[in-house]
Amino acid sequence: QRARVLREQTPGGLAELADDIRACRACPLHCHATQAVVGEGAETAKVMIVGEQPGDQEDLAGRPFVGPAGQLLMGCFQEAGIARESLYLTNAVKHFRFTTSGRRRIHQTPGIEHIAACQPWLKQEIALVKPRLIVSLGATALRAVSGPSDRLRDIRGTLRHRKDKGWSHLCLAHPSWILRLGSTEQAEQERQAMIAGLRQIQSVL
Ligand code: URA
Repeated sequence: QRARVLREQTPGGLAELADDIRACRACPLHCHATQAVVGEGAETAKVMIVGEQPGDQEDLAGRPFVGPAGQLLMGCFQEAGIARESLYLTNAVKHFRFTTSGRRRIHQTPGIEHIAACQPWLKQEIALVKPRLIVSLGATALRAVSGPSDRLRDIRGTLRHRKDKGWSHLCLAHPSWILRLGSTEQAEQERQAMIAGLRQIQSVL
């Protein structure tokens, strides 16, 4: 704990932070995950995307947003005219939480204790990257970015300037929720809502 506090006070660069995250044992999720999935992108990125946690494919690849939800999200970014290279991509929780059914690994939503254990890492990423805008995807990311009082259904799609923090916050749904809607009209409506939300990013780039 003391070591973690000291690191928070004397942060190095993103590479050093990534090493610290990979060595994190602050909650039990590291026991079953393949590896910690650290953030990806430039230290100078103006926009930080915060997801929930790595999924099955991200856990295996060690990179954020490379699985089905990530592909849906990247398609939305492309349609909104925003390049992946201009973003810093990370997650509220850095290890994959899952249960097993036979050989399948089934996603489990992280608990508040996992969000809390990972909070120092997200704080340090924000301190290093100094984004102008943070985009939270889904309820877990919203809690990690903004605390427990905001409700996703109340502020989804809104862009708010957080004077107290020095960055703006765009709150969006999680792409895996859209995936779960399948090939329905609602899924397409939600995908379009995601693209419309992401277009607001242009105003801070
Ligand atoms: N979902 C997330 O929230 N993050 C990822 O990295 C992948 C899927």
